[in-house]
Amino acid sequence: MNAAIRAAVRQADALNIDVYGVYRGFQGLVEQDWRPLTTRNCANILQRGGTILNTARCEAWHLPAVRTKAAQDLKDAGVDALVVIGGNGSFTGADLLNREHGIPCAGIPGTIDNDLPGTERTLGFDTALNTAVQAIDRIRDTASAHERLFLVEVMGRSSGMIALNTAIACGAEAVLYPESEAQGYEALVDQLKGGWERGKRSSIVVVAEGDSTGGAYQISERLRAEYALDLQVVALGHIQRGGSPTALDRIWGSMWGAESVKRLAAGETSFYLGCQAGVLVSIPFAAIHGPKPNPSKDLAALAGVLAR
Ligand code: F6P
Repeated sequence: MNAAIRAAVRQADALNIDVYGVYRGFQGLVEQDWRPLTTRNCANILQRGGTILNTARCEAWHLPAVRTKAAQDLKDAGVDALVVIGGNGSFTGADLLNREHGIPCAGIPGTIDNDLPGTERTLGFDTALNTAVQAIDRIRDTASAHERLFLVEVMGRSSGMIALNTAIACGAEAVLYPESEAQGYEALVDQLKGGWERGKRSSIVVVAEGDSTGGAYQISERLRAEYALDLQVVALGHIQRGGSPTALDRIWGSMWGAESVKRLAAGETSFYLGCQAGVLVSIPFAAIHGPKPNPSKDLAALAGVLAR
């Protein structure tokens, strides 16, 4: 997200446009918590995780009167357009501001879950994925040396994108995630038994926190109750949400940040940016209400083959 902020500010600078940074998302709009951002004061942030502008949930944004007041505040401050980094909720909020009050808005996809309609990439996903893979590579050493089963829980309350991609990249023996058609507790047990019969003496199972089995700890309790296993659980948690972003996240953040400003300056008024077939695209806000992308079925089938 910092790459996108930096690029938006510098692209605006190149076009002689002033930028304010709004702190804590829509909450900052409600409280008029905004300060000038310049090319110099957003230096040295490209490699930093999180966001220098902080973030917050803003229940008040659901109230039309609150949006009306914020729109008036923006107009009074001479603000011509807004760039919003976020996901579903943020884009819906920006869309409302645009439709109700005519403020041009651009969205930049930011969620580690990579589950926004219309784009095959979101900021943070690649970083979260690489963090999970690096962590599991380390866990693999103990799993293999001590012939243990590890259940590793990754983020994804309602999305298996991180889980499935992590499983492929670290050679997991099984993967469970919310949208999966194949898995479930019984199928997992069959898969682990099959591996044992084929001579596997250690296994890593990747579990998305939102999987219907209830997550890694619940599965471990069941397995422990039914089988004598050397079994360990690791929940990676928020380490996946922070840290220095990967090059890909920095590059797409930079491209989207700059493009959002260029398009707003050229008169586009209501869109979010995305990536389709590797190409930067602009998508109408309405598309955010479409079906969310599911993890690829081909990738799921591949994970099964590779886990032999
Ligand atoms: O929505 C992105 C996400 O990373 C989910 O995968 C995860 O469940 C959630 O955010 C964690 O959010 P919080 O930090 O509020 O618990």
